[in-house]
Amino acid sequence: MNYENILVTTENGIATITINRPTKLNALNKATIKELHRAFKTAEESRSIRVILLTGSGEKAFVAGADISEFSDYSVAQGRELAAQGQAILFDYVAHLSTPVIAVINGFALGGGLELAMAAHFRIASDNAKMGLPEVSLGVIPGYGGTQRLPQLVGKGRALEMIMTAGMIDAHQALQYNLVNHVTSLEELMPLAEKLAAKILNNSPIAIAAAITAVNAGFEDGENGFEEEITQFGKCFGTADFQEGTQAFLEKRKAKFPGK
Ligand code: COA
Repeated sequence: MNYENILVTTENGIATITINRPTKLNALNKATIKELHRAFKTAEESRSIRVILLTGSGEKAFVAGADISEFSDYSVAQGRELAAQGQAILFDYVAHLSTPVIAVINGFALGGGLELAMAAHFRIASDNAKMGLPEVSLGVIPGYGGTQRLPQLVGKGRALEMIMTAGMIDAHQALQYNLVNHVTSLEELMPLAEKLAAKILNNSPIAIAAAITAVNAGFEDGENGFEEEITQFGKCFGTADFQEGTQAFLEKRKAKFPGK
């Protein structure tokens, strides 16, 4: 598939999506958001892709935010539509994928960039990374889920401090805040992502998808995470992956999950 703003490679069950606008610090313009949607949809629909790594090109930025040049003259209705459309096709879409998405934060993750990383299922960062939601410095608020996902990850007080000060935290503080799971050097970042992906690849994709659904349910309005867990747990018993996983354990061999 042809893309202008992103690069996609696939190898050994892992799709790597790289946002590729380095001269604009990989800022998310509308075209990039649409291409990301297509790339995530393609990966989700491919039976061979079992983990998605999301990163930015270059050594400076993951994503330095939504492209400010595109919305500076928007009206109230256009602003609302920008957030609604972006959340629907990219941010919520990523959060609800059944294929695991790891954000590999290789530099600035600001505004929409941090929001995109927070929509991923978890995050790792290089030690040069800087994260923040600086929207109020532009007279606007985070619109791609940041006011919800940042407090879920770091707690309300820290989230509001980050949002109200519009400041940036470094990778080590992000680790301390539970915003990222691991911090490493820039050189070691992709190898670490691949190592984590390889561990995920050992496991049942059907069970992983069920776990994502159950975990997400606990964060959705009007849904009961415990109920969803019971439903998903029960469903697993009807899968070929469960047959294989339990059989392999009893036969003292490594499971070969069919993904069904
Ligand atoms: N939207 C549009 N363009 C952006 C951008 C964004 N969010 N972030 C960076 N860019 C562009 C800059 O305009 C510049 O383009 P130019 O060379 O054509 O002028 C290029 O990327 C490089 O950025 P620059 O500001 O020169 O790099 P820097 O190292 O001096 O500063 C940042 C890096 C990240 C601190 C700075 O770019 C910045 O503050 N960006 C905006 C962050 C933000 O507010 N994001 C939230 C948006 S809602």
